[in-house]
Amino acid sequence: MPGLQERLLNACSIEDLRGLARRRLPRGVFDFFDGGADDENTLRANREGFDRLRLRPRVLVDVHQPELSTAIAGSASAAPLVIAPTGAIGAGWPGADVAIARVAARLGIPYTLSTMATSSIEEVAAEGGRLWFQLYVLRDQVFTQRLMQRAHQAGYDALVITLDLATGGKRERDLRNRFTVPLRPNPRMVADFASRPAWCLQMLRHGQPRFKNMAGFDGDADPCASIAAKVGQALDASFDWDALSRMRDRWPGRFMVKGVSRGDDAARLAAMGVNAIWVSNHGGRQLDGAVAAVDALPEVVAAVQGRAAVLLDSGVRRGTDIVKAVALGAQAVAIGRATLYGAAAGGEAGAQRALQILTEELRRAMQLCGTPRIADIDASLLQPREAHP
Ligand SMILES: Cc1cc2nc3c(=O)[nH]c(=O)nc-3n(C[C@H](O)[C@H](O)[C@H](O)COP(=O)(O)O)c2cc1C
Repeated sequence: MPGLQERLLNACSIEDLRGLARRRLPRGVFDFFDGGADDENTLRANREGFDRLRLRPRVLVDVHQPELSTAIAGSASAAPLVIAPTGAIGAGWPGADVAIARVAARLGIPYTLSTMATSSIEEVAAEGGRLWFQLYVLRDQVFTQRLMQRAHQAGYDALVITLDLATGGKRERDLRNRFTVPLRPNPRMVADFASRPAWCLQMLRHGQPRFKNMAGFDGDADPCASIAAKVGQALDASFDWDALSRMRDRWPGRFMVKGVSRGDDAARLAAMGVNAIWVSNHGGRQLDGAVAAVDALPEVVAAVQGRAAVLLDSGVRRGTDIVKAVALGAQAVAIGRATLYGAAAGGEAGAQRALQILTEELRRAMQLCGTPRIADIDASLLQPREAHP
């Protein structure tokens, strides 16, 4: 059987890395990463949205040296890519947050740390790089404020408030698998774990993944609650426009919002002066039936009118997806599961492979589209929707 490095190198696509992750992880863990809410309609729609779009390549353009670098929300980045926040990922590979952050820093793209990360704000800051902190607004305001202070003190240059999680989505794979972090083996999980001895040994050696930023938090008291339930219980479901505005005043750096799908919300957020509006449906993990992120993007871009950067995530698996999102007006895309599959398959080397696949595909797509710079990617690259069969 080929070694880890060879298996990673043999992975040609993000889907191949997903396959490696599936073979390495117990089903409960894989399903937690891979799954969506309810019937997973939005999870599928995110991919279908990209697949439906067709490109109109330009020819006879000098593309011998494509240049991926660009600006994201006013700062330079090596590519129009951001790492999206993902919680509980230490259940896939110990230290996965730090591993992905390290790869992002090396490549020169921003990394977003989740409130529900399994590495702490300070541990990830020690890796350097350009860091953003994703905040879930918790009912415990003192704790929420303390998280913001810690992120600021540790040098995170942007705060990303997630808005699409007023309560946890109903992720039925997790409910059926009775998946929890900390991992609480039930009879079903024990059989599942036993089928993945390499993963088990690694977890035994490194200990249980924990929500390190949540140490000392009240909601930590019930370790048996499912992840969705646990996050849901702790969130401030009364968080509204006024509360967001107060939060904006309390954060000295760049202020971003994640989980927007509508033009009217985006226009109001832009008028408030947020620095970036992140179009996302949480990778199909929250409201099932929600519009695909890439389908919501044009409405948001039109409403924002250049007053804020527009980012997009949910469903990005290919370099051509990145070109399509930029053509529709996104400054950058954020990557959730793609790097996560890589990290779950092979830690830092796997995350590195995921970003290598995506950047190589992007470079190739830019050459084949006749757009050697990110700024060359515009709406004319896309076939108008009404022209599709
Ligand atoms: C396992 C997992 C955990 C996630 N945790 C968070 C989180 O803690 N905070 C957050 O804002 N989004 C979270 N997300 C959503 C991602 O930030 C992102 O919106 C989504 O993964 C993008 O879709 P994609 O996975 O298709 O790229 C999570 C997603 C996954 C797959």
